[in-house]
Amino acid sequence: MTDEEYGFATEQVHGGFQPDAAHGARVPAIHMSSGFLFDDFDQARDRFAGTDDGYTYSRLGNPTNADVERRVALLERGVEAILVGSGQAAATIAFLGVLQAGDHVVAARSIYEGTKGLLVQNLGRLGIEVDFVADQRDLDEWARLVRPNTKAFFAETIPNPKNDVLDITGVADTAHRAGVPLIVDNTLATPYLVRPVEHGADIVVHSASKFLSGHGAGLGGVVVDGGTFDWSASPERWVHLTSPERSLGGASYVERYGSRAFIVFARDVVASRIGPTPSPFNAFLLRQGIETLSLRVERHSANALAVASFLEQQPEVTSVDYAGLASSPYRDLAERYLPRGAGSVFAFTLAGGEAAARTFIDTVQLFSRMTHLGDVRSLILHPATTTHAGKTAEERAEQGIHDGLIRLSVGIEDVADLVRDLSRGFAALRGAAGSVGSVGLEARVGSVTELAALEHAVPGNHVIAEEL
Ligand SMILES: Cc1ncc(COP(=O)(O)O)c(C=O)c1O
Repeated sequence: MTDEEYGFATEQVHGGFQPDAAHGARVPAIHMSSGFLFDDFDQARDRFAGTDDGYTYSRLGNPTNADVERRVALLERGVEAILVGSGQAAATIAFLGVLQAGDHVVAARSIYEGTKGLLVQNLGRLGIEVDFVADQRDLDEWARLVRPNTKAFFAETIPNPKNDVLDITGVADTAHRAGVPLIVDNTLATPYLVRPVEHGADIVVHSASKFLSGHGAGLGGVVVDGGTFDWSASPERWVHLTSPERSLGGASYVERYGSRAFIVFARDVVASRIGPTPSPFNAFLLRQGIETLSLRVERHSANALAVASFLEQQPEVTSVDYAGLASSPYRDLAERYLPRGAGSVFAFTLAGGEAAARTFIDTVQLFSRMTHLGDVRSLILHPATTTHAGKTAEERAEQGIHDGLIRLSVGIEDVADLVRDLSRGFAALRGAAGSVGSVGLEARVGSVTELAALEHAVPGNHVIAEEL
């Protein structure tokens, strides 16, 4: 690519591409090689010294992985990215690149339970403390939880399952007033829906296992540095980045690498030592996914809005937590940060509690019963007995995870088929299990004409499914 500004769909296909000088392969090769040959004695020495930037060993860098890193960094408008083996590895590398024993993090309570566990059970044992913000819209609460040893804010752009969209700029400004970076998990939005760096976030992490891949065939994670945080403003707070470093000839990471100081430290000192290196084959799968990201996420979001609107009309449903709906208390934030769509992971709550959720989930046929998100296939899960089973009933109630709450990750199938499948669940609740053909569905969504209209409401509904 040239320096010209391209649109998202062009960048997701071409961004970061480096021509294959040896063979001219249009799709970059998968470099399944643990190590790389040195031409001679001097080249080995120079690569170890860092004066020759060729590859040495795949834990430290691999051409296939680097290809994906360049593309994600470009899409997120960061200065550099590190590809790792999972989303959890990405969060770990980002935290360990910023924090040390004695530090404190302020995090949103609505973050992924696995990341909460990482902060509390893993980093907690290393002497890093965390406080959780109960209402992430309340910027005063973020500010109130700041302590002298606070070193980072952490939140998700679209948390699941409650869809409580983050006020990225509000939280970033609060973090910056406290002199700390905002680290954001952008997994469920993807850079197609929002680029957190453009709204003030400093570091972005992803579970690339979800929408970035889309195919559900392999895990991955990415750390992206926006290059925006000024580590030199309070050098005593970030001694690992601002102190003289023997391996850099006495310069600090900030002196040597400027706005890339964090990501170079995270790559060379944290990731390369801990070693969450992805297989180049998984990197290849991820890149294949990224090339259709905008098409999928557009379709996911349109399908999700249609499904959420359908759910909202059903008498058994007490609430639908989808920020794309006019009824959502997060609609204003969705309009501000997610003008292209509010993603496709959300929850709805059945009045009948766990028994109703069990009947519903055991009745659907097209939605897959599984714990994953952002797959091209539609997925369904009961958080109270799975992802949030380790919480007390009070903790679940505080987070709005009621016994009748069901999480959906709406896929890219034909939306009429998804609605028909969910209608089976409602029919079962109404004591009509098994009788939902097109006639049964008419009774639920109005008429076949109405169903057809729903299908037409989703642009390119058939075309995109066939293309993918
Ligand atoms: C928002 C979010 N971040 C991170 C993760 C962890 O990702 P991975 O499973 O790739 O480690 C998940 C997993 O569900 C997630 O939902």
